[in-house]
Amino acid sequence: MCGIVGYNGSKKAVDILLDGLSRLEYRGYDSAGVAVRDKDKEIQIFKAKGKLENLREKLEGEKLKGTCGIGHTRWATHGEPSETNAHPHVSNDGNVTLVHNGIIENYQELTAKLGRHDYTLYSETDTEVLTNIIDYYYKKYKMGPIDAINRTMVRVRGSYAIAVMFRDYPDEIWVARKDSPMIIGENEDGYYVASDVPAILKYTNKVYYIDNLEAACLKKDKVIFYDLNGDEIKKELKEIKWDVSAAEKEGYEHFMIKEINEQPDVIKKTINSFVREDYIDLSNTGLSDEEIKNFKQIYIVACGSAYHVGVCAQYVLEDLTRIPVRVEIASEFRYRKPILDKDGLVIVISQSGETADSLAALREAKNQGVKTLGIINVVGSSIAREADHVLYTLAGPEIAVATTKAFSTQLIAAYVLAIQMGYVKGKINETVYQELIEEIKTLPEKVQYELDHLTNKIQKLSSKFSHIKDAFYIGRGLDYAISLEGSLKLKEVSYIHSEAYAAGELKHGTISLIEDGTLVIGIATQEEIFEKTISNLVEVKSRGAYVVTVTSEDMDVSKVSNFTLNVPKTLKYFYPSLTVVPLQLIGYYITVSRGLDVDKPRNLAKSVTVE
Ligand code: F6R
Repeated sequence: MCGIVGYNGSKKAVDILLDGLSRLEYRGYDSAGVAVRDKDKEIQIFKAKGKLENLREKLEGEKLKGTCGIGHTRWATHGEPSETNAHPHVSNDGNVTLVHNGIIENYQELTAKLGRHDYTLYSETDTEVLTNIIDYYYKKYKMGPIDAINRTMVRVRGSYAIAVMFRDYPDEIWVARKDSPMIIGENEDGYYVASDVPAILKYTNKVYYIDNLEAACLKKDKVIFYDLNGDEIKKELKEIKWDVSAAEKEGYEHFMIKEINEQPDVIKKTINSFVREDYIDLSNTGLSDEEIKNFKQIYIVACGSAYHVGVCAQYVLEDLTRIPVRVEIASEFRYRKPILDKDGLVIVISQSGETADSLAALREAKNQGVKTLGIINVVGSSIAREADHVLYTLAGPEIAVATTKAFSTQLIAAYVLAIQMGYVKGKINETVYQELIEEIKTLPEKVQYELDHLTNKIQKLSSKFSHIKDAFYIGRGLDYAISLEGSLKLKEVSYIHSEAYAAGELKHGTISLIEDGTLVIGIATQEEIFEKTISNLVEVKSRGAYVVTVTSEDMDVSKVSNFTLNVPKTLKYFYPSLTVVPLQLIGYYITVSRGLDVDKPRNLAKSVTVE
C-alpha cells in the first residue's frame, strides 16, 4: 500500500524523505514523489513512475536545500500507475500540496462539486480531488489550515492519512487521519511524519499517535494537535521499543530469510512477556479471570496468514478450554451480518493492526457489545487501540511482505491464551498446565535446531523443484492448519500455484490433479491421526506424486516419503511452531532459485488498509 514520509526541521529534507521512502518500499508501490520547500520559496515537486531509483535519478543535480518536505510512494487504486497520478498532488493554483494514503469513497460527488466551482483536474486520482476540496474550503471560509482540513474531514467519506503543505504557511506541515495509520516522530533536529514506524525509526523512536479525525501542525520546533472542532489537544510522547537494526538487512540477502532466522529470538521474547517461572501472566492485557470464566463462545477473525494462525488456534483453544470456537476470514465475517453471542469473545489477529477488513470486523463485534481481544504486533495501531484487550506479539518490525516471524509470535500468543483460559476455566489441571508451560519454553531452541539442521537440506530440495507448476500441501487437524500457511508461503512469493487440502478431503475431487512428479508436501505430526494421514500420502504416491513429509523425529514415514524433513518432538499443540519453519524455508528457497524478488512479490502490499 502507499507510504507517507514528511520532515520539518533543521536538516535537508530531501535526504530524509528518500531514505524514509526506501524503508517503506516493502509495502508495495508503483510510483513515488516528493515536495520540498525552502523558506519563502515555491514548493518544488518531483515525481517518477516505477522504482524509487527513478525518482532519485530525477533528483540528481537538483539543489534541493529545503528543510521542510513531504514524500510518498503510491500503490495505484484510482488511476493507473503514472507520473501524473503519482503524489504529491497540487490544487489548481498551487495553494495546497498534498500526499495521501487511503481511499476517498465519495470522490465522484466531490469532483462534481469542484466542477461547479470551476476547478479542473489533471489526474485520475481521488487524491487530487481531496487536495482541491481542502483548497476550496480554505478559500471559501478564509479561516486557515485547520479549519479547511476539518471541514474536509467532515465532508469526505473513506479512509485517509494526509500530509499537506499550504503556500501561505512555508514552515509548516499539516497532517490528519481517519482509518489509515500515521505517526509523528520527534527528535532534537525536528519533526517527522510517517505512515509506518520503519520509515523514521532510524531518526527517532519517540512518537505521538494521532487518533481518527484528529489533525496536527508540524512546525520546526513544536507540534500542535487539534480535534475536529479545531481546539488544541494534548498528546503523550510514546517510546517505540523496536530495535533500529531489526529494520535493516544486516548482511542477509533478503528480509524474508533474516526474519525466518530471527524466529528463535522473537518467539522467546514473546513467551517471556507472558510466561513467568511456572504460570502465565495475562495481567498486561487487562483480561481478568472473571471475564475468562464467563466466555461461552470464541470467534477468531483475521486475514491471510493471520487467519491461518486462527485456524491453528481454533484446534488448540477448543481442545484446552472446551469452549466452541469459530474462525472466520475478516472480509466474510464483516458482511455476513454475524449473530454474535453476547457472552462471546471476538479475537482479531493482525500483525499490522491496520488491516481494513480485520478492523471492520472488530468494530462489528464492538457494535454488538461483544468483548474483543487483539493479537497485534504494531503498538499504537488502530486495532490495538480499539480492542478491549491486547496481547502484543514481540516480533519487532516485519519488513518482508510474506510474514514469517510475526506468524510465529502470533501462534505463541494464541497458545498462551488457550492454556491460560483452559486453566482458569478448570478444563486442564495443574499437572497439564505445568507440562504445557515447560514445553512452550523449549520452542525457541527447537526452532533454532531446525534452522541449523534443515536449511541446507531444504536448499537442495528447493533447487530441484524450482521449475514446478503446482504443489499440494496436505495434513489433518493442526497439520492441515499449517498446510494452509505452507501453501500460501510458497505461492505468494514464488508464483507457483499451490493448494492446501485437508488430507482426508483430497479424494473427493482434487486427487485427480495428481500425476507423475506432482509435489505433495505432507505434514504428519499428530499422533492420533498419523496413520490416516500416511494412508492419504500413500494414495497420492501411488498416483505418481513426489512426497515430501514434514514429521516429528520420532515418527516413521519411510514407507511413503521420498524426502523427509524431521522436526524436533514436542507436545501435539505446539507442532505448528515447528512445522511452519521448513515450510517457510521451502517457500523462500524455491523463490530464490527462480530468481524472483522474494521480499516484494508482485501485486502484494504489506498491510492491506483498503478493502
Ligand atoms: C502473507 C501475509 C498476509 C497477512 C495478511 C494480514 O504472508 O503476510 O496474508 O497475514 O494480509 O495482515 P495483518 O496480519 O497485518 O492483518
